[in-house]
Amino acid sequence: MAWASAPGKVILLGEHAVVFGEPAIAVALDLRTKIRIDGRGTSIMVNGEPLQEKLHLPHVHQALALTGEPWGPLDIRIESAVPRASGLGSSAALSAALIAALQEARGLKPQPRDVARLAFEVELAVQEGRASPTDTSTSVAGGAVLVDSVKGPGLLWDLERGGKHWFLHRLNLAKPPALVVGHSGERAPTGQMVAMVHERVRRDPRDLQRIRSLGALAREGAKALSASDFRGLGQLMDRAHADLRALGVSTPRLDELVHAARKRSFGAKLTGAGGGGSIIALTEHPNDVAAALRTAGCDPIVASVTPRGLEAGA
Ligand code: MEV
Repeated sequence: MAWASAPGKVILLGEHAVVFGEPAIAVALDLRTKIRIDGRGTSIMVNGEPLQEKLHLPHVHQALALTGEPWGPLDIRIESAVPRASGLGSSAALSAALIAALQEARGLKPQPRDVARLAFEVELAVQEGRASPTDTSTSVAGGAVLVDSVKGPGLLWDLERGGKHWFLHRLNLAKPPALVVGHSGERAPTGQMVAMVHERVRRDPRDLQRIRSLGALAREGAKALSASDFRGLGQLMDRAHADLRALGVSTPRLDELVHAARKRSFGAKLTGAGGGGSIIALTEHPNDVAAALRTAGCDPIVASVTPRGLEAGA
């Protein structure tokens, strides 16, 4: 039997901008996707139910192809605590854990950079070529990660695709931030949102400005996070939400949740692709923020950052 597990993530700053080569910072969350594979049968089960073709099959197909078909009979059990289409990196965690479990099933020892590269390939195929390695690399690395188009201290690995070069760095956290996640109840269609932003940036130079501004906020945010300056980081998150809103990726529901969370937070913003999905709040008062989000009608998660990235064995 081969197994692997990988965490979900939230992007603190830089979503969308990172697809255009700007920096982003993301942290792994203590919500994991676990996979077990054995060769005795041929079924794929997700959280005890047969796999949903549209949600999971493209990832499974890509992962099987990238780990060297042909495969014999495979029994794949996926257990995931990362809610789907929520902006929390469920598809990245699935891709990373699946690649690593398949490599274990082949008798190989998964190497983090290699799994990060292959999981990124899975995401690219599923998102029709438009993705950055942020979600997949953060899931593999765990902890806090800075993605940038230039190399800096703490380099984990670098990945290249379509003329773009991303350098993934470890951000050391003296004190992990307290985060509250509020799901809007709306599905986050990542591929569609990334395509929509591309179209807007192509047509309107003001949207390109917004992308650059999001990148600058992420660059400042990396310094604030490393210095445990959560007040400063929260202000940058508020400004990033305004840019993301202007870029057309927020929704009235996400704005409402951000507003509800801000009263007791250093800052709050949508996280991930938007168009639905989740907001995150950075706070010293996670229980108060969770209560405010509950009053606004959602079921919040008080999440902590996990240093545990990809784990695998046989
Ligand atoms: C999705 O979690 C983050 C985006 O920046 C897309 C990507 O980086 O692939 C919107």
